[in-house]
Amino acid sequence: MEVFEQKDPLSEHIGFLKKKGLYIGLVPTMGALHKGHLSLVKTALTENDIVVVSIFVNPTQFDNKTGLKKYPKTFEKDLKILEGASENIIVFAPTVDEIYKKNVKSQKFDFDGLEFEMEGKFRKGHFDGVGTIVKQFFEIVKPHNAYFGEKDYQQLLVIKKMAEKHAMPVNIVGCPISRELNGLAMSSRNERLSAEVREKASFIYHTLLMAKQMFGTKSAVHITEWVEKEFSKNKLFKLEYFVIAESNTLKAVKRKKKNESYRAFIAVYANNVRLIDNIALN
Ligand code: PAJ
Repeated sequence: MEVFEQKDPLSEHIGFLKKKGLYIGLVPTMGALHKGHLSLVKTALTENDIVVVSIFVNPTQFDNKTGLKKYPKTFEKDLKILEGASENIIVFAPTVDEIYKKNVKSQKFDFDGLEFEMEGKFRKGHFDGVGTIVKQFFEIVKPHNAYFGEKDYQQLLVIKKMAEKHAMPVNIVGCPISRELNGLAMSSRNERLSAEVREKASFIYHTLLMAKQMFGTKSAVHITEWVEKEFSKNKLFKLEYFVIAESNTLKAVKRKKKNESYRAFIAVYANNVRLIDNIALN
């Protein structure tokens, strides 16, 4: 498995592979790989000849320095996991200098309002950081297809919007959420939870499932109040937001419309670790 740290040799190599007629997939990650990441890689491998997996903890998308500092780094283990997955993987693991030179700053983007909802409200500048790095990866790798998890559903929509607005020649593919056996959405951050909290964090998914069940007969306001009450009774988890929104615009639902599709989104603190999850409601 080839590992590239510099962008120019990688671009050159990919250019050569594309000239041979090979299809290139890209899976951007921040490392600390788990089965959720791997499910994206596996889907990408079935739809492309070569899959580039980037491993880069992107400083510009963190709104606070502790989050960045505490982000788990397991590079050697990540390489082993990818090596075991397929011969057709190329790893791109640049340094911060290689990507940003000395200018560790985000470009400003207009995602037609998607960036101001939910995560955008609580993590200022987050999506500018994500857009900045993903745009660079698209320019370096020029993939045919790029894969993103529905776990970060808002991020997936933001990337789709960026590709569409800037007419980027890449197909964005959304992939379903991988969950632990108890229902907790897989995340690199789960490693920072105590064993007890990790087990009990099934509460988050079960609350989403209940919300989905209630959605057929109850109003969004009613469901939101119910969720807030459930969390107020639970001392292990602190609710940051629970929002029912339109799946395409992410606008919070006021009154349900017949032919509209909706999702519920949640952000929760557990052991000082911030967890997010979401579910399709209809
Ligand atoms: P990271 O959190 O490492 O996630 C990399 C990709 O894996 C994202 O597309 C994310 O949605 C997906 N993913 C994570 N957990 C998942 C799960 N349980 N099920 C399905 N997919 C899952 O998201 C980022 O990194 C960064 O913002 C990045 C896009 C790499 C830009 O820096």
